[in-house]
Amino acid sequence: MADPHAAGIFVTGTDTGVGKTVVSRALIAAFRKTGMKVGAMKPIETGVGEAGPLDAIAMREAAGIEDPLETICPQQFALPAAPNVAARAENREVDLDSIDAAYERVTTGRDFVIVEGAGGLLVPIRDEMTMAELGRRLGLPLLIVARAGLGTINHTSLTLDVAASKNLTVLGVVISHVEGALTDADTSNLLGLKEILGDRLLGEIPPLAPGESAPADAINFDALTQRLDALKDSI
Ligand SMILES: Nc1ncnc2c1ncn2[C@@H]1O[C@H](COP(=O)(O)OP(=O)(O)OP(=O)(O)O)[C@@H](O)[C@H]1O
Ligand SMILES: [Mg+2]
Repeated sequence: MADPHAAGIFVTGTDTGVGKTVVSRALIAAFRKTGMKVGAMKPIETGVGEAGPLDAIAMREAAGIEDPLETICPQQFALPAAPNVAARAENREVDLDSIDAAYERVTTGRDFVIVEGAGGLLVPIRDEMTMAELGRRLGLPLLIVARAGLGTINHTSLTLDVAASKNLTVLGVVISHVEGALTDADTSNLLGLKEILGDRLLGEIPPLAPGESAPADAINFDALTQRLDALKDSI
């Protein structure tokens, strides 16, 4: 990205269900601890049932903010599918103007914003537009959440490659033990991923009990803020 401003982070993942919301909540808590006013946004949520947009609700709670859910999550669809598939099922299309307007409201008066994408970078949100382009549109650097289990080296490398090919700034990768305890083989595999990532690894969320939040020290917040500062300096 040519000119990323560092007033926020776009949390993406190697897949759906990898721990993006868990990591987003942990980031919101970490930035709030520094005294910042933190906004939260899940611009597009699919699979929204009667209980409402659950990711948006979880992020709003973590941020301790009162913004209406329609602001935190301006595009909600019932079908648990990729955004443009879920939108088509309702004879709609994802409305980018409503996302821009909501983003403006969420960031106004806030020092920082955490935005959670849906699915991974190549998930289509409109014809010829993917989640990667939404990250670019919002002008935020990416944090990639990856699973700890088998397959993660491929998925993480694919995600990093796509980000690079689209000139998106990547702050780093957080691994989440979303599948619980690992086998010995998976543990060796994870070491392989860590070798590949080197200092791009910014955290590791251990296996959590249902409903448990990530421990405060699971994300290397100092390294993360240093990268954000470096981005600011490069503008
Ligand atoms: N480290 C972990 N240990 C145990 N469970 C986890 C861990 N991280 C996430 N989970 C659980 O796995 C499920 C998926 O996590 P989460 O909702 O954060 O993923 P996501 O990437 O945000 O999914 P989506 O694509 O639906 O937004 C949730 O039930 C969550 O509580
Ligand atoms: Mg989520």
